[in-house]
Amino acid sequence: MFDESVCARGGWSEEFTTRPSNPPIYQTTAFDLHGVEQLEAVVSGSERGYIYTRDGNPNHSAFAQDVAKLEHTDAGAVCASGMAAVSAILLSHLKTGDHVVAARVLYGRTSQQLEELAKRFGIEVTFADSRSPDAMKSAIQTNTKLCLVESISNPLMEIVDLPALVAAMGDVPIVVDNTFATPCLFRPMDHGAKLVFHSASKYLNGHGDVMLGVVAGDRGAVTRVRRVASLYGLNANPFECWLASRGLKTLPLRVERTCSNALLVAEFLEEHAAVSRVVYPGILSHQDYELAGRLLPAGCGGMLSFELHSDESGVPTLLKELAGSIPFSPTLADVRTTISWPAGTSHKFLVPEDRRALGISDGLVRLSVGIDAVHNVIAELNRALKKL
Ligand SMILES: Cc1ncc(COP(=O)(O)O)c(C=O)c1O
Repeated sequence: MFDESVCARGGWSEEFTTRPSNPPIYQTTAFDLHGVEQLEAVVSGSERGYIYTRDGNPNHSAFAQDVAKLEHTDAGAVCASGMAAVSAILLSHLKTGDHVVAARVLYGRTSQQLEELAKRFGIEVTFADSRSPDAMKSAIQTNTKLCLVESISNPLMEIVDLPALVAAMGDVPIVVDNTFATPCLFRPMDHGAKLVFHSASKYLNGHGDVMLGVVAGDRGAVTRVRRVASLYGLNANPFECWLASRGLKTLPLRVERTCSNALLVAEFLEEHAAVSRVVYPGILSHQDYELAGRLLPAGCGGMLSFELHSDESGVPTLLKELAGSIPFSPTLADVRTTISWPAGTSHKFLVPEDRRALGISDGLVRLSVGIDAVHNVIAELNRALKKL
């Protein structure tokens, strides 16, 4: 007789007592329960367990808790992407009639989401210059419920003076996108932020093969985020979290190398005849050079932008010439060096006048310097720039 139950119930090895050296992937939709009593115990928190992966999974917890520890805080929650983390934070902390003060230079999709919330759900948003704590303070209204900034902004690498901003904003909770800095270089919670979040698709995972977001911070605020992530289906899947946990193991090494490589590339570009402007907070010409030295003593990260003397007309040639070595890839923080064009990718959703007003010209290209051999990266850039 053919036993269909072997097929339907199979896949389990016999019980064993040794612990795997690396965590398993809990690739499961749900968790079996002994009965109603256990269901109630897990729901109430008196027994540690999981029920349904949209609500929680050990791979979620492992990654979120490690990021919370690195960010010097208590609690963490994962979301399906960095943008899902933005959604979960905003949906869990705002209602119609509330007001947000946001940095005027943010990842383009974050600004777009704020504008959409404003238009469709009656949430007010004021965009102000996050480099000026006074300007941010002046934007506060009686209904201000959140302030949103990036520790190192995308793509102009503006540094927020978080201690000064926290002092200026008083009781307004500050949420920091720490994607570019990573907790290796900057820990917003140490300076008084309420919540910190990352596109973990970037440095935390670091290998260009994951879509994931993570939020860490004050336990009460994170519990609200987790509830919304579960209710609105913004949660991550276990495999992405497992990959990101694996990526996290080498985060400090990758960040250290990417910082030293980026500094060398920035210095090279600054001297190049085809380049009109380099934007990297680790070099003297950057407006936030001194602030970076104070707040980011371990390094300024791997992201830099530059403009060409030829303006945007040179961009297609540059990207084409680099295609075989430094690919045009609309992401960042891969182990390999990649190049992107904010006006056509991350900030495409802003109207050109708004982009220009922010200082994001159509000729600005953004380099995500990886951990590859820096002399190759410099030689490849040199070769491509000479074609302009
Ligand atoms: C600074 C920053 N925040 C948030 C995001 C959104 O993250 P995700 O692409 O994982 O949704 C990005 C994406 O590039 C980003 O650069």
